[in-house]
Amino acid sequence: MRPIIEELPGSKIREVANAGIGRSDVLPFWFGESDEVTPAFIREAAISSLNAGETFYAHNLGLPELREALAAYVSAAHGPTEVSRLAITSSGVSALMLAVQALAGAGDDVTAVVPVWPNLTAQPAIMGARVRRVALVPKDGAWRLDLDALLDAVTSSTRALIVNAPSNPTGWTLSRDEQAAILEHTRRTGTWIVADEVYERIYFGAAGRVAPSFLDIAEPEDRLVVIGSFSKSFLMTGWRLGWMVTPPRLIEALGKLIEFNTSCAPVFVQRAGLAALARADEVVPQVVSHLRRCRDTLLPRLSALPRVRVAVPDGGMYAFFRLEGERDSLSLAKRLVVEAGLGLAPGAAFGAEAEGWLRWCFASRDPARLEEGVRRLAAFMRV
Ligand SMILES: Cc1ncc(COP(=O)(O)O)c(C=O)c1O
Repeated sequence: MRPIIEELPGSKIREVANAGIGRSDVLPFWFGESDEVTPAFIREAAISSLNAGETFYAHNLGLPELREALAAYVSAAHGPTEVSRLAITSSGVSALMLAVQALAGAGDDVTAVVPVWPNLTAQPAIMGARVRRVALVPKDGAWRLDLDALLDAVTSSTRALIVNAPSNPTGWTLSRDEQAAILEHTRRTGTWIVADEVYERIYFGAAGRVAPSFLDIAEPEDRLVVIGSFSKSFLMTGWRLGWMVTPPRLIEALGKLIEFNTSCAPVFVQRAGLAALARADEVVPQVVSHLRRCRDTLLPRLSALPRVRVAVPDGGMYAFFRLEGERDSLSLAKRLVVEAGLGLAPGAAFGAEAEGWLRWCFASRDPARLEEGVRRLAAFMRV
């Protein structure tokens, strides 16, 4: 086996979850998904497709009707986006892997903004690329971009810049000005931007708005790949359906690459995606307003605890916080499971930069569970 594969780190979130295995009294907020089942009409669309016998291979790039519907969905948020720029993938994470496979090979330099969901840095490492980490800077519980440091780190030898905003785990969101500066800089250095925007709709900045996207300001031919997913905004994590928006010149080759990875997304899953998009205007605002309620339930209670340093996130579904005085987030998260029945993800899972922090996924069907979680944390802290 290639050493890099043998050496892949295990998930520290799983390590914490394993500490609670078999315990029904643990409140699990460790994974990045809602505990809400996918809306029934979406499930029905998949069932109808299966009952109609749609059990065969499909086009590498996705069903034409789904690509059309997605083009309309993306265009409505970000301006005209041609179908010829879209590929349907078997999940957002697969889209990210395809982007990295297409753009960064052995020995290439890739820069990533961290702390971040670990897949984003593991994927280029798997390809043999060298990953340079540029850390966001924590201040008063929030994480800020040092734009100059990022631009300094992206040079003409940087093949790709990987950036996830709204961010998992920090909740940090790129501003329009920062995006413009990054785009302009990468045009000069010839660097690809791989923008993970799977949380773009989970945005609390302004009602009915999506987070600022590189798609809003880029030209179709810019070196930009934007990753999207059905997982978060349609409560479809288990379905494994995502997409990528690329310059038109990449799409044909990506179709071939998809052939060698998954060949195609399952048709019945794509039918479910089609149903979801048809009622996106109804489903997504409901999901977001529920998540806003969850955020507004958790954050004031959490920040009222002594020693907790946390900022209210503008996007995503995570409270990322620091307990002053705690340095070892993995052992702290394990103790919280065992001693308090509270399941959180350790900051160390997202990089050494986030050591001492904890991530709390607030996507809870029942916000009262978040209140109970805070009570358990307070009892653990003896306050
Ligand atoms: C930042 C980020 N990107 C991408 C994904 C992938 O989502 P999926 O593979 O479910 O589409 C996730 C999932 O947690 C994520 O947090």
